[in-house]
Amino acid sequence: MDIKYKSKKAAAEFAVTLVPKGQFIGVGSGSTVNIFIDELSKYKTIIPGCVPSSEQTRINLIKNGLKVVSLDEGYPLTMYFDGADELNRDGQMIKGGGGALTREKIVAAASAKFICIIDDSKLVESLGKFPLPLEVIPMAAVYVKAELVKLGGIASTRTNFQTDNGNIILDVIGLDLSDPDYLEKTINSITGVVTNGLFASRKCDEVIIGSIEGVESRCFD
Ligand code: 5RP
Repeated sequence: MDIKYKSKKAAAEFAVTLVPKGQFIGVGSGSTVNIFIDELSKYKTIIPGCVPSSEQTRINLIKNGLKVVSLDEGYPLTMYFDGADELNRDGQMIKGGGGALTREKIVAAASAKFICIIDDSKLVESLGKFPLPLEVIPMAAVYVKAELVKLGGIASTRTNFQTDNGNIILDVIGLDLSDPDYLEKTINSITGVVTNGLFASRKCDEVIIGSIEGVESRCFD
Protein backbone atom coordinates (compact mmCIF):
# COMPACT_ATOMS: atom_id res chain seq x y z
CA MET A 1 0.00 0.00 0.00
CA ASP A 2 1.49 3.38 -0.94
CA ILE A 3 2.36 5.82 1.88
CA LYS A 4 -0.04 8.57 0.80
CA TYR A 5 -2.96 6.16 0.51
CA LYS A 6 -2.12 4.66 3.91
CA SER A 7 -2.00 8.13 5.48
CA LYS A 8 -5.33 9.14 3.91
CA LYS A 9 -6.89 5.87 5.06
CA ALA A 10 -5.68 6.37 8.64
CA ALA A 11 -7.22 9.86 8.68
CA ALA A 12 -10.48 8.66 7.10
CA GLU A 13 -10.83 5.77 9.57
CA PHE A 14 -10.42 8.18 12.48
CA ALA A 15 -12.80 10.77 10.98
CA VAL A 16 -15.56 8.20 10.65
CA THR A 17 -15.54 7.69 14.44
CA LEU A 18 -16.58 11.35 14.80
CA VAL A 19 -19.76 10.98 12.72
CA PRO A 20 -22.76 11.96 14.86
CA LYS A 21 -25.36 9.18 15.22
CA GLY A 22 -28.81 9.84 13.77
CA GLN A 23 -27.91 13.15 12.13
CA PHE A 24 -27.53 14.37 8.56
CA ILE A 25 -23.94 15.07 7.54
CA GLY A 26 -22.23 16.80 4.62
CA VAL A 27 -19.78 14.78 2.55
CA GLY A 28 -17.10 16.45 0.41
CA SER A 29 -15.18 15.31 -2.66
CA GLY A 30 -11.88 13.80 -3.64
CA SER A 31 -9.76 10.70 -3.12
CA THR A 32 -9.52 11.10 0.68
CA VAL A 33 -13.27 11.50 0.97
CA ASN A 34 -13.75 8.43 -1.24
CA ILE A 35 -11.84 6.40 1.36
CA PHE A 36 -13.98 8.05 4.06
CA ILE A 37 -17.12 6.96 2.18
CA ASP A 38 -15.86 3.35 2.08
CA GLU A 39 -15.52 3.50 5.87
CA LEU A 40 -18.83 5.32 6.28
CA SER A 41 -20.66 2.50 4.52
CA LYS A 42 -20.04 0.34 7.62
CA TYR A 43 -22.14 2.80 9.65
CA LYS A 44 -25.01 3.26 7.23
CA THR A 45 -27.70 2.23 9.72
CA ILE A 46 -26.88 5.17 12.02
CA ILE A 47 -26.79 7.86 9.32
CA PRO A 48 -30.20 9.10 8.11
CA GLY A 49 -28.71 10.89 5.10
CA CYS A 50 -25.73 12.63 3.52
CA VAL A 51 -25.62 15.89 1.55
CA PRO A 52 -22.97 15.47 -1.18
CA SER A 53 -20.77 18.30 -2.45
CA SER A 54 -20.50 16.88 -5.98
CA GLU A 55 -22.15 14.57 -8.47
CA GLN A 56 -19.22 12.18 -8.15
CA THR A 57 -19.74 11.96 -4.39
CA ARG A 58 -23.51 11.58 -4.81
CA ILE A 59 -22.93 8.56 -7.06
CA ASN A 60 -20.30 7.12 -4.74
CA LEU A 61 -22.54 7.46 -1.66
CA ILE A 62 -25.40 5.67 -3.40
CA LYS A 63 -23.03 2.94 -4.64
CA ASN A 64 -22.02 2.39 -1.02
CA GLY A 65 -25.61 2.07 0.18
CA LEU A 66 -25.76 5.46 1.89
CA LYS A 67 -28.85 7.65 1.64
CA VAL A 68 -28.41 10.93 -0.23
CA VAL A 69 -30.54 13.93 0.71
CA SER A 70 -30.66 17.49 -0.61
CA LEU A 71 -29.47 20.44 1.45
CA ASP A 72 -33.15 21.44 1.70
CA GLU A 73 -33.83 18.20 3.57
CA GLY A 74 -30.66 18.10 5.66
CA TYR A 75 -30.23 21.74 6.68
CA PRO A 76 -28.75 22.70 9.10
CA LEU A 77 -26.00 20.08 9.04
CA THR A 78 -24.14 19.10 12.19
CA MET A 79 -20.91 18.12 10.49
CA TYR A 80 -19.18 18.35 7.14
CA PHE A 81 -16.29 16.06 6.21
CA ASP A 82 -14.00 17.05 3.35
CA GLY A 83 -10.40 16.98 2.16
CA ALA A 84 -8.12 19.86 1.12
CA ASP A 85 -5.31 20.61 -1.30
CA GLU A 86 -3.42 22.74 1.23
CA LEU A 87 -4.00 23.59 4.89
CA ASN A 88 -2.10 26.21 6.93
CA ARG A 89 -1.51 26.54 10.69
CA ASP A 90 -4.75 28.50 11.14
CA GLY A 91 -6.96 25.89 9.47
CA GLN A 92 -7.38 27.95 6.31
CA MET A 93 -7.32 25.95 3.11
CA ILE A 94 -7.04 25.86 -0.64
CA LYS A 95 -9.64 23.50 -2.08
CA GLY A 96 -11.05 22.79 -5.51
CA GLY A 97 -8.42 20.50 -6.98
CA GLY A 98 -11.36 18.33 -8.06
CA GLY A 99 -13.37 21.34 -9.23
CA ALA A 100 -16.17 20.95 -6.69
CA LEU A 101 -15.31 24.07 -4.71
CA THR A 102 -18.62 25.94 -4.99
CA ARG A 103 -20.81 23.15 -3.67
CA GLU A 104 -18.13 22.36 -1.09
CA LYS A 105 -18.28 25.95 0.12
CA ILE A 106 -22.08 25.85 0.28
CA VAL A 107 -22.18 22.62 2.28
CA ALA A 108 -19.36 23.85 4.56
CA ALA A 109 -21.22 27.11 5.18
CA ALA A 110 -24.39 25.19 6.04
CA SER A 111 -22.61 22.98 8.60
CA ALA A 112 -21.99 23.71 12.27
CA LYS A 113 -18.64 21.89 12.20
CA PHE A 114 -16.21 21.35 9.31
CA ILE A 115 -13.84 18.42 9.80
CA CYS A 116 -11.02 18.34 7.28
CA ILE A 117 -9.37 15.00 6.45
CA ILE A 118 -5.87 15.09 4.98
CA ASP A 119 -2.59 13.27 4.72
CA ASP A 120 0.38 15.19 6.09
CA SER A 121 1.63 16.25 2.63
CA LYS A 122 -1.18 18.84 2.59
CA LEU A 123 0.20 20.81 5.57
CA VAL A 124 1.89 24.07 4.53
CA GLU A 125 3.50 27.06 6.25
CA SER A 126 1.76 29.43 3.84
CA LEU A 127 -0.89 28.80 1.22
CA GLY A 128 -0.17 29.23 -2.47
CA LYS A 129 2.03 26.54 -3.90
CA PHE A 130 -1.10 24.80 -5.16
CA PRO A 131 -2.70 26.88 -7.98
CA LEU A 132 -5.86 28.57 -6.70
CA PRO A 133 -8.99 27.21 -8.45
CA LEU A 134 -11.80 29.62 -9.36
CA GLU A 135 -15.22 28.61 -10.66
CA VAL A 136 -16.17 31.14 -13.33
CA ILE A 137 -19.18 31.76 -15.59
CA PRO A 138 -17.80 30.80 -19.06
CA MET A 139 -18.56 34.11 -20.83
CA ALA A 140 -16.73 36.07 -18.10
CA ALA A 141 -13.42 34.20 -18.49
CA VAL A 142 -11.59 36.88 -20.48
CA TYR A 143 -12.65 39.66 -18.11
CA VAL A 144 -11.86 37.65 -14.96
CA LYS A 145 -8.41 36.74 -16.30
CA ALA A 146 -7.67 40.44 -16.95
CA GLU A 147 -8.80 41.40 -13.43
CA LEU A 148 -6.58 38.67 -11.96
CA VAL A 149 -3.55 40.12 -13.78
CA LYS A 150 -4.11 43.33 -11.74
CA LEU A 151 -3.69 41.15 -8.62
CA GLY A 152 -0.51 39.57 -9.98
CA GLY A 153 -2.26 36.35 -11.02
CA ILE A 154 -1.84 34.28 -14.15
CA ALA A 155 -4.90 32.15 -14.85
CA SER A 156 -5.22 29.15 -17.10
CA THR A 157 -8.49 27.51 -18.04
CA ARG A 158 -8.69 23.88 -16.87
CA THR A 159 -8.93 21.85 -20.05
CA ASN A 160 -11.82 19.49 -20.84
CA PHE A 161 -13.52 20.30 -17.57
CA GLN A 162 -17.01 21.49 -16.72
CA THR A 163 -18.20 21.93 -13.13
CA ASP A 164 -21.40 20.34 -11.80
CA ASN A 165 -22.91 23.82 -12.20
CA GLY A 166 -22.00 24.05 -15.92
CA ASN A 167 -19.11 26.48 -15.44
CA ILE A 168 -15.35 26.50 -16.06
CA ILE A 169 -12.41 26.38 -13.66
CA LEU A 170 -9.49 28.82 -13.83
CA ASP A 171 -6.33 27.70 -12.03
CA VAL A 172 -4.39 30.74 -10.86
CA ILE A 173 -0.73 31.14 -9.92
CA GLY A 174 1.29 34.19 -8.88
CA LEU A 175 -1.15 35.67 -6.35
CA ASP A 176 -0.11 37.06 -2.97
CA LEU A 177 -1.82 34.78 -0.45
CA SER A 178 -0.31 36.29 2.69
CA ASP A 179 -3.78 37.48 3.74
CA PRO A 180 -6.07 34.61 2.63
CA ASP A 181 -9.22 36.15 4.11
CA TYR A 182 -8.70 39.42 2.19
CA LEU A 183 -7.83 37.65 -1.08
CA GLU A 184 -10.84 35.34 -0.81
CA LYS A 185 -13.18 38.32 -0.56
CA THR A 186 -11.33 40.36 -3.22
CA ILE A 187 -11.49 37.59 -5.82
CA ASN A 188 -15.10 36.79 -5.02
CA SER A 189 -15.99 40.41 -5.76
CA ILE A 190 -14.86 40.11 -9.41
CA THR A 191 -17.99 39.91 -11.55
CA GLY A 192 -18.28 36.49 -13.18
CA VAL A 193 -16.47 34.62 -10.40
CA VAL A 194 -18.84 32.14 -8.79
CA THR A 195 -16.39 31.43 -5.98
CA ASN A 196 -12.73 30.74 -5.35
CA GLY A 197 -11.00 27.84 -3.63
CA LEU A 198 -9.78 29.80 -0.62
CA PHE A 199 -11.56 28.56 2.48
CA ALA A 200 -10.34 31.31 4.79
CA SER A 201 -13.40 33.01 6.21
CA ARG A 202 -15.09 29.60 6.61
CA LYS A 203 -12.02 27.59 7.55
CA CYS A 204 -12.21 24.12 9.09
CA ASP A 205 -12.94 23.64 12.79
CA GLU A 206 -10.85 20.50 13.12
CA VAL A 207 -8.33 18.70 10.95
CA ILE A 208 -7.51 15.02 11.06
CA ILE A 209 -4.00 14.47 9.73
CA GLY A 210 -2.94 10.99 8.70
CA SER A 211 0.73 10.14 8.33
CA ILE A 212 2.98 7.14 8.39
CA GLU A 213 3.27 7.65 12.16
CA GLY A 214 -0.49 7.58 12.79
CA VAL A 215 -3.23 10.16 13.23
CA GLU A 216 -3.22 13.62 14.75
CA SER A 217 -6.17 15.91 15.37
CA ARG A 218 -5.95 19.69 15.63
CA CYS A 219 -8.79 22.10 16.47
CA PHE A 220 -9.09 25.75 15.39
CA ASP A 221 -10.96 28.64 17.04
C1 5RP B 1 -12.15 18.81 -4.47
C2 5RP B 1 -11.39 19.16 -3.24
C3 5RP B 1 -10.68 18.07 -2.54
O1 5RP B 1 -11.03 18.09 -1.19
C4 5RP B 1 -9.19 18.29 -2.67
O2 5RP B 1 -8.87 18.41 -4.05
C5 5RP B 1 -8.39 17.16 -2.04
O3 5RP B 1 -8.54 16.01 -2.78
P1 5RP B 1 -7.77 14.65 -2.44
O4 5RP B 1 -8.37 14.11 -1.20
O5 5RP B 1 -8.02 13.79 -3.66
O6 5RP B 1 -6.31 14.97 -2.29
O7 5RP B 1 -11.33 20.29 -2.81
O8 5RP B 1 -12.71 19.93 -5.09
